[in-house]
Amino acid sequence: MCGITGYVGTGRASRYVFEGLKKLEYRGYDSCGIAAIDGRIRVKKATGMIDEIEERINLSELPGCIAIGHTRWATHGGVTVENAHPHLDCSGTIAIVHNGIISNYKELRKELEKKHRFTSDTDTEVLVHLIEENYKQNLEEAVINALKKINGTYALLVISSEEPDRIIVARKESPLLIGLGDGGNFVGSDVSAFLAHSRKAIPLDDDEYAVITGNSVEVKSIITGKKLDKDILEIELTEKAAMKEGYPYFMIKEIHEQPSTITSAQNIYPEEIHAVAEAMQKAEKIYLAGAGTSLHACEVAEYWFSKIAGELVVAVDSSELENRAVVDNKTLVIGVTQSGETYDTLSAMRFAKKKGAEIGVIVNVIGSTATRFAEYVIMQSSGMEVSVAATKTYTSQLSVLFRLAIELAKLEGKDIKVIEEEFDSILDKVRQVLSIEEEIKGKADSFFNVSNYLFIGKGINTPTAEEAALKLKEITYLHAEGMSAGLLKHGTISLIDENMATVAFLPSDIENRAKMLSNIQEVSARDGRVLIISQGKVDEDEVISLPDTSELLSPFIFSPVFQLIAYYVAVKLGRNVDKPRALAKSVTVE
Ligand code: M6R
Repeated sequence: MCGITGYVGTGRASRYVFEGLKKLEYRGYDSCGIAAIDGRIRVKKATGMIDEIEERINLSELPGCIAIGHTRWATHGGVTVENAHPHLDCSGTIAIVHNGIISNYKELRKELEKKHRFTSDTDTEVLVHLIEENYKQNLEEAVINALKKINGTYALLVISSEEPDRIIVARKESPLLIGLGDGGNFVGSDVSAFLAHSRKAIPLDDDEYAVITGNSVEVKSIITGKKLDKDILEIELTEKAAMKEGYPYFMIKEIHEQPSTITSAQNIYPEEIHAVAEAMQKAEKIYLAGAGTSLHACEVAEYWFSKIAGELVVAVDSSELENRAVVDNKTLVIGVTQSGETYDTLSAMRFAKKKGAEIGVIVNVIGSTATRFAEYVIMQSSGMEVSVAATKTYTSQLSVLFRLAIELAKLEGKDIKVIEEEFDSILDKVRQVLSIEEEIKGKADSFFNVSNYLFIGKGINTPTAEEAALKLKEITYLHAEGMSAGLLKHGTISLIDENMATVAFLPSDIENRAKMLSNIQEVSARDGRVLIISQGKVDEDEVISLPDTSELLSPFIFSPVFQLIAYYVAVKLGRNVDKPRALAKSVTVE
């Protein structure tokens, strides 16, 4: 987690860095800080979200044309000003910002404390003292020598008032991209940090570092010290994607973008989908690996691969793949990750690669780590998602995975014409659901007035229920559980009382509809309140009626409903919808 950014050039560096930190705040938002050089290093840092601390970090007191900044999601050391980055060496001439974890920091600190004065509880601070220890006359050399002594992961930026024309940056398992600008160069955890000023980026790979000045960028290998020729990535994203455009929160804007993001996924080149479907056909074992919302997309897809293509594809929590999966050189592992930076999913992909498996990825963020080591990359092209709660990227992942299931079914000679045509017209139905927003908001106001919820579904809507519960929990802080309706009677039903309400997803398919209705009766018989989100009409008190689809496509119809419910409940409770407590958009730690 954590976002880092820097600038060196002819402009007012601290302003560029502050702007960049605002864009990176989704990566962590408990504290932030900037260091700039103007003759000497000046540092400003504070706890709180960046908008709240703008006045306290008075940028007019940070002059100079070179600066680095950090927005933090605490791992080592509490949320305090002392623990906020940047960190300085004892002499105050070297400053560092770091994203990642130094796993041997305790041993290093013990040794360094004999000579150096520590002012924080962070793992990062050992690095700046190590650099100080190695500094003779050359910052680049000092950084590289220090890196050779540490274990762990990092994306880091280092500046020194002794060499005020350069930023030394390095990367191992935490993202870092250099942005090439006119009159200055940028660096950031992702392209959003500099998108307003540069559309040309050089993504660093693991074990690479760079020396960046206002008019040059030199990338080298940390291991060999050799200069590397790197490709320049042209970025097509528009900065508009990072604006609310009149909506009060990014989440509601992103929910409403779904017709367009589903369309983008429907328009992905067929060749890209075909290549992955062919790899699936060849593989003996196939795993889909994801975390959180992306895992739920994998779980929905498991049903599609089985029901449409007749293939067993296993959805796995990426943090458990290594423990659970049987991976060899006849296996295909497809990571599903919006950010392309989720530690657990990248680890699962790396583990599988080492075992000889082929690796694919469905990903949203351009230039992200996952795009750089998978053999098959499908960019879902949903545009930037700013809200921590994933919404549009979920239905976009579903769209890509649905297309993969269809393509695999075609390769296997299955007749899938009807469902394929129905998918082509799913957009109208999604729009219809979004058009009843007021009715959904009304239900969010009237039904969601206790503190515990059960979400239940059957078949392909079991993951729908899990995703609905996750959405509600993460932004409202209310307790929710999602499960198959059939599982309820095996224990959880005993929780039902006036403080535990149930939300049921009712599809049109006769068989599962009948089974769901009988599970709903079991809840009502225990005086449990039930809100039924139903495709078609149903004769009950608390109902939201939605358009019909075949059951296999119903997750597309239910998703905007539970997203809107979570959103309006969070707004009613006065939560910080886009930046829920204790979370970050990219979870880049284990
Ligand atoms: O970037 P990823 O798709 O790999 O992220 C995975 C999860 O961290 C993410 O989906 C998380 O669960 C969201 N906050 C859910 O809204």
